[in-house]
Order: sequence, then C-alpha cells, then structure tokens
Amino acid sequence: MSKIDKKDKISRPRGTRDILPDEMEKRRRYELIMREIAENYGYREIQTPVFENLELFTIKSGEDIIEEIYNFKDKHGRELALRPELTAPVLRAFVNECSVMPKPLRFYYIANCFRYERPQKGRYREFWQFGVELIGSGSHLADAEVILLAYNILRELKLDFELKIGHVGLLRHLLREIEEEKASKIMRLIDKKDEKGLKELVREPSIPAELEKNIYELIEAEGSRDVVDDVSKIIPDYDFSQINNLCDVLDALGVEYSLDFGIARGLDYYTGVVFEVYAKSGLGAQNQLCGGGSYRLAHLFGGQDIPSTGFALGFDRIAEICKISPEKRDTVVVINLGYEAETLKIAETIRNEINKRVITDVMGRNLKKQMSFANDVGADYVVIVGEREIKQNRFVVKDMRTGEQKLLSVEEIVSLLK
Ligand code: HAM
Repeated sequence: MSKIDKKDKISRPRGTRDILPDEMEKRRRYELIMREIAENYGYREIQTPVFENLELFTIKSGEDIIEEIYNFKDKHGRELALRPELTAPVLRAFVNECSVMPKPLRFYYIANCFRYERPQKGRYREFWQFGVELIGSGSHLADAEVILLAYNILRELKLDFELKIGHVGLLRHLLREIEEEKASKIMRLIDKKDEKGLKELVREPSIPAELEKNIYELIEAEGSRDVVDDVSKIIPDYDFSQINNLCDVLDALGVEYSLDFGIARGLDYYTGVVFEVYAKSGLGAQNQLCGGGSYRLAHLFGGQDIPSTGFALGFDRIAEICKISPEKRDTVVVINLGYEAETLKIAETIRNEINKRVITDVMGRNLKKQMSFANDVGADYVVIVGEREIKQNRFVVKDMRTGEQKLLSVEEIVSLLK
C-alpha cells in the first residue's frame, strides 16, 4: 500500500469509550442486580428516545444549560438534543402517554446520557445512568422508598459509600425574596461548592446581611439528626415535618445517612428532599455515585402539577469500583478436523441440552492451532471430533484444568458437562 493510500486510524470522539466484552460482562451483572432490586419494589422499565426536543431541557433550566448539552438541528431545522439525563424525558413520556394511569407510577431505566463536559476520570461525555422515577406522590414515604432503593442497590453491590440527605426547599424558602435568576445562580454556586463565586454574589447590596448570614449557616449545617434543631432556629417559619418524618422512617429501617443542608443539586427542578451518595474510595474527584430527590416537572410539559421523586446512579462510576465478578460460564471448544456436519451437530447438542458456551473453528486450522486457541479463550473442556472418534462414536474430552482425558459418547459428554 502506498503512503497516500494508508489511512490514519479513526479514533473515538472525546469523552466516549469502547466497552469491551470483559467489562461488558461485569456491567451486565451489575445491571441485573439493579433491575432485580428495582423490580422487587414494583418499578417497571421504561425507555425513551436518545434525542428529544431541546426545549425539554431548557424549559426549566434556561438557555445556559445548552453549553452542557449536545444539541443540533436536524435536516428540517428542528432544534434537538441528546438527552443529558432521563428525568425530564420520563416525565414528558408520563404526560404524553400515561397521565391517566393509576398513580403512583414507578418507572426505572438504564440508559446512556450525553453531556458536553470536560472529560476526566469518572466523567465522560457519554455515560450510563440507572435511575428510577416515582410519579404522583409528595409524601415522605415516597422519598423514603427511593432512598431505600438506592441504598439497597449500593449495599448489594458491596460498595463503601456515604449517603447525604438535604432539603432544597429550605434554601429556596430563604431565597424566596430574591429574583429567580439570581436565586438559581446562588443554588448552582452552592452545588458546585464555588465558595469564591458565592461570596461575590451574596455580598451584593441587594442581598441583606442577615440573609447572607443565614445562607452560610444553612449550607454549613451538616451531621446527625440534631442539625434539624439548629436549622429550625435559622428558619423558624418553615415546616420541618417532611424531613423529620423521613428521618423517622429511615432510622427505623436502620439506614445509615447524615444530613447536609448544603446539598443544592445541579439541576433546577428539585423542590424538596434531595440526596447524594459518595464513594469513600477508588474514584478521585468525581466520586458522586448517585443523585436524586423530589421535584415538580409534569406541569411544565403540559400535564398536572404533581409531585415526583427519583434518583439516578452513575453506572460507569459504579462499574469502575465494584468488585463483584461476573458469573462464570463454562466454555467448551469442539475441535473441527474437517468433519463439519459431525462437529457442528455435537456442538449444537451441547449448546441446546446444557446451555454451555460452545466454540468451533471457522478458520480451517490444524489440531495444534485449535488447541492453542482453546487455551487462549480459557476453555474448560475440549472435545475432539476426528475420524477415529466418529467411527467408534466416542469422542476425546479433555478437561483443560486438570489435563485429564476421557473417551465418551455424546450422551456421556452431555452428562459430564452438566
Ligand atoms: P445527576 O446528579 O446530574 O442527576 O446525575 C446522576 C449521577 O450520574 C451522578 O451522581 C453521577 O454518578 C452520574 N454522572 C453525571 N454526570 C456524569 C458524567 N459526565 N460521567 C459519568 N457519570 C456522570 C440526574 O441526572 C437526575 N436526573 C437524577 C434524578 C432522577 N433526580 C430525580 N430523578
């Protein structure tokens, strides 16, 4: 090939990954655990489009969010966006398709999301979320259920994590006199823990000194349940029953958590209890494994103003630190020495009768090369289908772990491998 003909390798887009089979087997195992637990709580799977009308994501958060989104125009000039998350899409689907179904509705999803962020360890431009949305209830029991569900999934995955619970209603209540745009900005700076930016903004003359003091006292309030008493002194006119009732339920169930009234959440739609889960080790700066809380979105998409609650787990971050191994499947290599019909029939029998992974040669290789390939793929057993074996209707079976060989009929092979 001449220099001109030779093409450079085409690389992946920045912030994306190829997930190879070893990793996919692990991910499927974790996904199965998450699905099973969510289904045990009555959640059912929902799927929404990978792209939506851009407006779905800007309607609440404003045009600023476009900077963090993959948006594009289609051939008809429609403004579209790859979904950055699934809460808004699921609520849109609820308004469009299921608003008359009996409430509450319990949905779960596992899906890829896209955000135009600066990639780093644990932060990608294409990533996966496992999430749930419980639509139709604003009760503390709904908050308790989704927190318990996230908590149990993370425990089942044997992760070392920290659960923090807050309440954005308190912050919003404090900021109620401030114009909406500025209040959102303050919430965002609190979420990003941008102390310098926050200091500059709350020092503005339009914000009274008393309010500035209260904001700082509130966002620094963290620890055990007793902080609710401290916070109720800062905001005496607020009803703390939701958070108190939630704590009662979680305490009764033995859930380990701490309170943190500095949780502001990055997305604008939260209204009440919010929570975040952090990995204690293994992830560096991007160690948030889960985020969620109660919110109101349906009315913005043309539905009734109903309360909902939910969370999303960062699937890639979990896959990065989870140590549970995928379930091992036995692999059998049936050596093909040119007796194609016989080889393929035996391979089919083993696959169909005992559901094993069976591999046969498709390269026309000799015995030595096929044995070496069997080693490469980690075969547990090798079955040799040669002329002599076919004549006597008995086949050499080699246990690759012990090296032991036996001459067996197909029925005997099936019962040996069972
Ligand atoms: P979020 O906090 O933006 O919430 O995302 C949830 C989780 O997704 C994060 O805790 C993190 O683990 C993971 N995540 C976010 N961005 C990235 C990224 N660039 N790369 C890898 N993982 C990432 C939501 O999306 C809400 N929709 C959650 C929710 C559901 N609230 C109510 N219902």
